[in-house]
Amino acid sequence: MRPTISVRCIYFYVVLLSATSSGGDERQWLKSLITFVEEDYVDKCTERAAATWDELIGHPKGLSMKLDKDKLIVMDVEKNREDIKQAYKEGSLGQNDDVLKRKVQLLLQPGDVLLGTDQWIRLVTFADTALHKIRFETNYDCGATTCSLREFHNRLAKETDEAMLKRMKQSWEKNLPDINDYTEQILPLLSNASKDYSSIEEYWDYLVEYEGAILKARELWDGVKPLYVKLHKYVALRLLGDKAVGENLPVHLLRSLNGADWSNVIESLLPKHPAVYQKVTANLQTKNLGGKKAYKAAADLIKALNLGEIKPEIWEKSVFDSSCPPVLVDYCKPNKLKVATCKDVSIGNYLDAHETAMKIAYKQATATYSNNTYILREAPRYSAIYEAIPGFLSLLALSPHALHRNGLFDLEVFNLNDNHHRMILQLILALRDLAKLNFYLAADEWRLKVLSGNTPPSKVATSWSEFRREFSMLETSDVDLLGEPYVLFNKPFIGKFMGLILKYQIYQSFAEELMSDESDLIKHVADNSDRLSDVMIQGFSEKWPELVSDLLVKKENGLEYTGLTDYYQLLEEYLDIQFDPIFNNIDALDDYLDPAELNKQNKDDAYDFDTNFDEANAAIVDIPLPQTEPPMPNHIDTGDEQSHDHGIETTTVGVLEVKNKTDEKESYNVYWWIGIGVALAVIVILIAIIARKRHNHRKQLERQRRENSHA
Ligand SMILES: *[C@@H]1O[C@H](CO)[C@@H](O)[C@H](O)[C@H]1NC(C)=O
Ligand SMILES: *[C@@H]1O[C@H](CO)[C@@H](O)[C@H](O)[C@H]1NC(C)=O
Ligand SMILES: *[C@@H]1O[C@H](CO)[C@@H](O)[C@H](O)[C@H]1NC(C)=O
Repeated sequence: MRPTISVRCIYFYVVLLSATSSGGDERQWLKSLITFVEEDYVDKCTERAAATWDELIGHPKGLSMKLDKDKLIVMDVEKNREDIKQAYKEGSLGQNDDVLKRKVQLLLQPGDVLLGTDQWIRLVTFADTALHKIRFETNYDCGATTCSLREFHNRLAKETDEAMLKRMKQSWEKNLPDINDYTEQILPLLSNASKDYSSIEEYWDYLVEYEGAILKARELWDGVKPLYVKLHKYVALRLLGDKAVGENLPVHLLRSLNGADWSNVIESLLPKHPAVYQKVTANLQTKNLGGKKAYKAAADLIKALNLGEIKPEIWEKSVFDSSCPPVLVDYCKPNKLKVATCKDVSIGNYLDAHETAMKIAYKQATATYSNNTYILREAPRYSAIYEAIPGFLSLLALSPHALHRNGLFDLEVFNLNDNHHRMILQLILALRDLAKLNFYLAADEWRLKVLSGNTPPSKVATSWSEFRREFSMLETSDVDLLGEPYVLFNKPFIGKFMGLILKYQIYQSFAEELMSDESDLIKHVADNSDRLSDVMIQGFSEKWPELVSDLLVKKENGLEYTGLTDYYQLLEEYLDIQFDPIFNNIDALDDYLDPAELNKQNKDDAYDFDTNFDEANAAIVDIPLPQTEPPMPNHIDTGDEQSHDHGIETTTVGVLEVKNKTDEKESYNVYWWIGIGVALAVIVILIAIIARKRHNHRKQLERQRRENSHA
């Protein structure tokens, strides 16, 4: 037995004594007590992490060990909190004691664990047991056989048969806890946990350390929503045809269990020339960049960015044959972190590896600064910065220079069609992030709504799918949110939501400083990495919103959705074109340069009606011949291939003109030259093309103007 009890008694005695002693001593006692409490928590954290790890890797007694540790924590918290309350006198701390005050504040409000023994035990038992079952059941429906969660995820990602997808999703839902148990026994605990606050919102605001967090999130969402709706419509169009546009999308068709990630349908959504997606996917496979290798690649990028070195031992002690998404286990000691994840290769897993590795680097950065004692490293708070910096790393991982660095996509080839490739990379990320952003807010709003008591009890159990229909335009089940740890543990998503917004602001703050879009963003971030490191080493010593202005090198601390919407500008233009009655049927905007074609030095400059022509150094302009009937004003095209079915004949014209991005006017002249002799209808369309190019040019100018105003 460790001498914890007796030491605690001595401290307690000492603290009691301090009540009668002078102010300076009181401060000293409080400091010693906090040091003691923090050491106690570090020990408990290490024990808890060991049990959590055993459970994760399938130790036969893992679940019961984890439950024991998770339940016990409530006793420690209550005891420590009592001690600190007794030792802490408002007046005893001076002006220079901000850090000490902050520690007291964090230790006195540890969140839901204040529910008290019975209710806390109910909460952790419910959540731990549910997550264990999801992770270790082997009864998932994989068609002819049953399978494990990992095989299930892999199969789901590729399955195309609708009935099978439905069956698979149902087999997963059978492993989730009962929704009535959740809404009657678990969710209401949130009302009890927030009893010292005027509302649950206020309680969450306190833990997220952002006043009016939900209101702010709603405001941010209003700014992002138009883009979400466009993406949603495009997905519906591509998966189900134009009748489905604007209708609710069944999530199983997105090959998603709860609609929080739409990445699995990317291959149905790619535009013509998806080279960057195909190459990156193929190269990830060839290089086998999954599991440990993906994490090492992420660690290399983090090192190149001057954001810290991750010790290889961490990967040696982690496991990579578990299931995804990754789980990070923190032992609250320097360099003692482990990851349990899967080894499967995919862009999504590659990005997750970058985010998880960056969380490790983040925790290490916080821990290297010796003033950051336990509570300033592990505060029970939901920091958006702790979400945003790792998220920023996944944006960097898919940036052209990082792809080049890892041999995933050649930079020269990228720059040949940079806007086109960028747009596809944006599509890859949008399917992850926009879906998540919407899910996070939906889950928080729905919980608040149910707890507000305005939903009749008989309707509560079916109200999630109803909420998702209205808020997300998705057809989900009533129970699918119960697969999420944050929901099972009654934690708010709002910090993650704000982190997703903020990561695009971080990206923007660096990208705006680049001389041109083609400059090396990785190098630029590496040269200015202090901005990130300075914030990371602060840990929880300050509330995260106070650090936003340092992070973004801006005067204001504000969260703004424009970082996100600006990032997705090319994607948004592409989505607009899909629904534009004039542009949707023509390929004229497709000025994609095929690198393979460029390599062939065949100087055949004649008209070529074969799409597979050899055209040296030529811009390729596809001119549609006039239709016998004008296009329907609201007609929606389902894609490049089908455009022929709608009565448009496409002729490919090779133009003897080296594409020169710096000289747009030249290319207008070329368009005009082609336009002569073609039917009037075509000229009208060409004018429209020019208008759009001008429009884009104007956007570019606007962006430059904004950049200058930031400089
Ligand atoms: C909330 O607390 C009250 C009083 O302690 C208790 O009676 C009630 O059962 C608690 N609610 C839940 C859902 O446990
Ligand atoms: C770190 O802590 C020491 C001792 O409490 C203190 O003297 C020093 O000023 C602190 N440093 C910072 C940057 O807060
Ligand atoms: C592109 O245009 C610019 C300015 O008009 C010119 O300086 C440059 O040489 C041109 N590049 C090519 C490859 O023609």
